[in-house]
Amino acid sequence: DWKIENVLEEEMQKLRQTVGPDEHVICALSGGVDSTVAATLVHKVVGERLHCVFVDNGLLRFKEAERVMETFEQHLHLPVTKIDDAERMLGLLKGLKDPEAKRKAIGAEFIRVFQEFADDFKRQHGITPKYLVQGTLYPDVIESCPPPGSGQKHSHTIKSHHNVGGLPKDLKFSLIEPLRELFKDEVRALGRLPALNVPETFIARHPFPGPGLAVRVLGDVTEGDALDVLRAVDEVFIQTIREWGLYDRIWQAFAVFLPVRSVGVQGDQRTHSHVVALRAVTSADGMTADWFPFEPAFLRAVSTRICNTVRSVNRVVYDVTSKPPGTIEWE
Ligand code: XMP
Repeated sequence: DWKIENVLEEEMQKLRQTVGPDEHVICALSGGVDSTVAATLVHKVVGERLHCVFVDNGLLRFKEAERVMETFEQHLHLPVTKIDDAERMLGLLKGLKDPEAKRKAIGAEFIRVFQEFADDFKRQHGITPKYLVQGTLYPDVIESCPPPGSGQKHSHTIKSHHNVGGLPKDLKFSLIEPLRELFKDEVRALGRLPALNVPETFIARHPFPGPGLAVRVLGDVTEGDALDVLRAVDEVFIQTIREWGLYDRIWQAFAVFLPVRSVGVQGDQRTHSHVVALRAVTSADGMTADWFPFEPAFLRAVSTRICNTVRSVNRVVYDVTSKPPGTIEWE
């Protein structure tokens, strides 16, 4: 019968059979629960032959890189190299407005950075890492692939998730995907097993998309102070959700920066400033979702707080769209 303990045992057994005693493994950590659980599991089997990298692509949330690096080092003891790729990534995104073009650029740059990490590794240690760990989940697999047996050559891709099937042929890694058959709640159960003991701060985290805040700033992400405004608003929203004790009842909550301005009045000044949307959804696996029914008092409090702390925002709207017809992210 199906038990999460058995999944752990089976995956560890597979790893012991796959990874030879002199072979090395690399892994990109995102700070999210999936890659953290996947890396912790692999680390248990291959130990110091696992090498993790965390890329700051300039599209992360407020203080995310510092917070995540600290937890990796202090609580998980995972060996992590941090790479700062913010400037280059934002340079590449300049002028890009189309959501798929943005995703493709981010995915391609991520692979370039990763390849460079592997090349450096080879220069330093004289060994080419053979395996790449990915925290791919079952819903990622189905959303990105044509239905099995459909005979379709090209699937109707809803969104190109850059962490699935996105490895070009010239990246010569074999993939290790220990979570490929699991749903999010199962990954969380796996990470909580005493054998892995992943801290609750990672386990309970809301999912965060690979392309990061780029899919939450509609249009050109490099325009003006969009990313900074979004970070500030998002931080207030999440803090308020935590203070009200709602974080664990929500699948995912975040702010979206809209490329429009609206008229407002702050003090006795007429303003023409940014509009942000808040999105919070409940879901079992991200495939379908419903908007979270905040109390009016919460919405009032969070809206006031956002406009008071982020001066360039004069309007806050709440997204009441389920998935379908909307997706969870706006891009
Ligand atoms: P959507 O917006 O398609 O999102 O309803 C479903 C879930 O997937 C996350 N998401 C992504 N995750 N790379 C990721 O790793 C991506 O490109 C990506 N796009 C969306 C989204 O945050 C939600 O949890």
